[in-house]
Amino acid sequence: MAIIWDKRTFHLFNEKISYVIKVTDANHLMHVYFGERVYEDDLDYALNSRNYDKYRRESADNENMNLQYLPQEFASFGSNDPRLPSIRLEFKDGSRTTDFKYHRHQIIKGKPKLEGLPATYGTEDEVETLVITLKDAYEDVFVELSYSIFKDYNVITRHTNIINNTKHKINIERITSATLDLSHVEGDMIQLSGTWAKERFYERTPLRQGIQEIASRKGSSSHDLNPLLIIASKDAHETYGEVLAMNFVYSGNFEGSIEVDAQKMARMSMGINDFDFKWALHPNDTFVSPEVVLVYANDGLEDMTHTFHNLYSNHLIKGKHKHAPRPILLNNWEATYFDFNETKILNLAQEASALGIELFVLDDGWFGKRNNDQTSLGDWFVNKDKLPSGLDNLSKKINDLGMKFGIWFEPEMISPTSELYKKHPEWIIGHHHRRNYQGRSQYILDITRKDVQTYILDSVSNILDSANIEYVKWDYNRFFTDIYSSHLKPEQQKELTHRYILSLYSILDKLTTKYKDVLFESCAGGGGRFDPGMLYYTPQIWTSDNTDAIERLKIQHGTSLAYPNAAMGCHVSSVPNHQVGRITPLKTRGIVAMSGNFGYELNLLELSKEEKEEIKNQIKTYKTIRNTVQYGTLFRLSNANDVSWMYVNKDKSQVVVNHIRQKGLVDPSIKTIKLKGLAKDAYY
Ligand code: DGJ
Repeated sequence: MAIIWDKRTFHLFNEKISYVIKVTDANHLMHVYFGERVYEDDLDYALNSRNYDKYRRESADNENMNLQYLPQEFASFGSNDPRLPSIRLEFKDGSRTTDFKYHRHQIIKGKPKLEGLPATYGTEDEVETLVITLKDAYEDVFVELSYSIFKDYNVITRHTNIINNTKHKINIERITSATLDLSHVEGDMIQLSGTWAKERFYERTPLRQGIQEIASRKGSSSHDLNPLLIIASKDAHETYGEVLAMNFVYSGNFEGSIEVDAQKMARMSMGINDFDFKWALHPNDTFVSPEVVLVYANDGLEDMTHTFHNLYSNHLIKGKHKHAPRPILLNNWEATYFDFNETKILNLAQEASALGIELFVLDDGWFGKRNNDQTSLGDWFVNKDKLPSGLDNLSKKINDLGMKFGIWFEPEMISPTSELYKKHPEWIIGHHHRRNYQGRSQYILDITRKDVQTYILDSVSNILDSANIEYVKWDYNRFFTDIYSSHLKPEQQKELTHRYILSLYSILDKLTTKYKDVLFESCAGGGGRFDPGMLYYTPQIWTSDNTDAIERLKIQHGTSLAYPNAAMGCHVSSVPNHQVGRITPLKTRGIVAMSGNFGYELNLLELSKEEKEEIKNQIKTYKTIRNTVQYGTLFRLSNANDVSWMYVNKDKSQVVVNHIRQKGLVDPSIKTIKLKGLAKDAYY
């Protein structure tokens, strides 16, 4: 791994990849190359492209230089490149044109933290960082482009800082975290699309001239489009072909786009969505953009997946649970919904413990007067009608059964019928002179306010301190509307959605640091915030509210593209399935849920003796394969009517193959599943 600066060219490389940037005579940054490792001699060829020569000839005459056909590393707004820019600032006089040019650079061992934001990390031996500072040709505005290269990964991580050294406020109207200009791309775009209970379905479409975009304007990364954007060569598939991916380490509004021009040049960008965004950058202030993880894989989607999984498992997820076996849990949500009391919970727990379950999770409904979803969010005190002996006693009783105890929260929300709302109607996001939309009968708390942050920290802490709680499910069940904060100034209103995410990260940082032994699982009405930003704080995420085994094949397949096996919460639920009504065998449900972070979410008390026996065996089996499934290498062997997922542990001593045939077919042909990743000198 090294970063070299020679002949006005930066070359970041390791054994696997090279990333090359050229500083032109006119001090613009040109993107030369990102791909398989190349050597210095090869670079001349890449640099002498037709467009670059033309630019060199023209750049002597600055006014006529033509940037629109050039692969730029950072595209200023207002030049003769009309493609989507990397930046758009608004100066005091209303002008928006900038011309960012090379100013200086720094090569750093290790990887500096991103102030207030989640990001990948590594030691000085594992990662190096290049920071290129650009300066606008006319104003004292600086842009720092950061590139980190890890020793063993086909990955570059990037983000962008903007520094205002002028004497006036500047508005940031658009800033991408990474822009990547690619010459002559004829490929496909792959994205993960969906909606509630149908998250992250794999979708592949040919690239065409124009802008292809994935985005969220909902305030969260959303159920609809995941912040993962992929360009795959036409011939690329699971194990072959070139793949280039951007994944955004951010949980709010984002925009990932691929703009293809007539020459088939593609500009791939990822950043905070400029929809309803404007950030006032005051003199001497710095704006830090979130991080983008760029993966180049030349052995297909599998190669890309392995890279993301390893990177996230080793350099994104943190804390003591990072590589620890994740407990098999029983969650009472689909078993009881809001209709439970202590006796019911203890009966369930007793049964769970007898079957070998390790963690009991008490979901929604234990607080305030929460007997349905219309009330009590914000009132984080125990409902003594349901749980008369309190959480402390309940957790003790569950611990006595040999299980850990965990609990559900939705701390960012407030019900209009809550005690909290009576006291603090001004705490919601929305206008006080308008009718604000509710989502699932609730408002979103304005967590950008310090008093609201303190309230959340205190109320969650009070509960966590009150009992032996070893797991927290952190839910979030609606999206943003009426985007307005009564405590922000008028000119700050378009900062609200980003400030919200920064505040969420700050709250999560404080709580996960204070309760470092507690295992946090995030959730957003299922998988509405399944992104690397959340993964940094919560090592596991509830994948989807859809627990149907067959629908889960598609949801878990798409999710597995970038997100590690241990991160994916997967539960066996009852049949007919509560979301789609399908009846699947317990065996099928077990195999699908055992392909991730395993648990149950059904009324164990209603099961037959045979079913309980089967569950006991599933749990016994999972305990023997848990390490391989959660931390092994995943191979997606087949993704058709027959779905096969294979997991190989680190020393290749154990292999797990999960196979589901979705539809029974009259097909007498003999099928062979060819295994992968095996040790050459071993019998399995
Ligand atoms: C949505 C979650 O995804 C469910 O698992 C459950 O926790 C409910 N919220 C509770 O309201």
